[in-house]
Amino acid sequence: MEIVIQPTAAAATTLAARLFVKAIRQKPACVLGLATGSTPLALYRELIALNLDWRNVTTFNLDEYVGLSPEHSQSYYRFMQETLFQHVTIDKRNIHIPDGLAEDILKFCADYETRIVEAGGIDIQLLGIGTDGHIGFNEPTSSLASRTRLKTLTPQTRRDNARFFGSEDEVPHHCITMGIGTILDARQCVLLAFGKNKAHAVADAVEGAVRAMNPASALQMHPNMTVFLDEDAASELRLADYYRWVYENKPERAD
Ligand code: PGA
Repeated sequence: MEIVIQPTAAAATTLAARLFVKAIRQKPACVLGLATGSTPLALYRELIALNLDWRNVTTFNLDEYVGLSPEHSQSYYRFMQETLFQHVTIDKRNIHIPDGLAEDILKFCADYETRIVEAGGIDIQLLGIGTDGHIGFNEPTSSLASRTRLKTLTPQTRRDNARFFGSEDEVPHHCITMGIGTILDARQCVLLAFGKNKAHAVADAVEGAVRAMNPASALQMHPNMTVFLDEDAASELRLADYYRWVYENKPERAD
């Protein structure tokens, strides 16, 4: 796991964006795993500004709320259209987002896994982290081997996301999310976390034990994993100075 600590979220975002730019430029038909939430917004803005060629890019989103139509103001379908897809040259047929209105959720989830495999697997997966350590919507006690499936959101996640909905009551209880096993199958993972409210979950994921109570800790098992943090999100890391030294003294800059 590489830990990259930057003075600001903007600086960390710019470094993370480079990995996605490289993926798209080196492999025009690459498969991207994408995330929603406030954390990746600036990264999407950076990718849009670069006018990259998205015509052959395929995307798979991590998750979606169950019960929200694509048109709902808080659906992740709409979020992705408005924050990224409407602004790039992606072919609509190459976009995959879990269907919150799927009638047969079990079948939908199995098909989603198949579609990822048929696309050749995810080349680079973007991740945020919840204050409870979730990745995608894999809440604490998710199986570390889980695949795409129906999950129930924790009260903490529903409280965290109430800010987007107006009130906590309006936040759905259920979601479809790629599993932790699905995420770990990506060839490369990139996790972004900014702000003091993420510091505990980040320190626990990076330096704590691998365990289902912090789903992001499973990323310790991934062989090509980079965590981009601002100073606030890094503030509870015990080895922060070590990570800074490692990054500043990398023998060969891979980026
Ligand atoms: P956030 O959400 O980017 O809005 O903080 C992250 C997450 O819940 O995974």
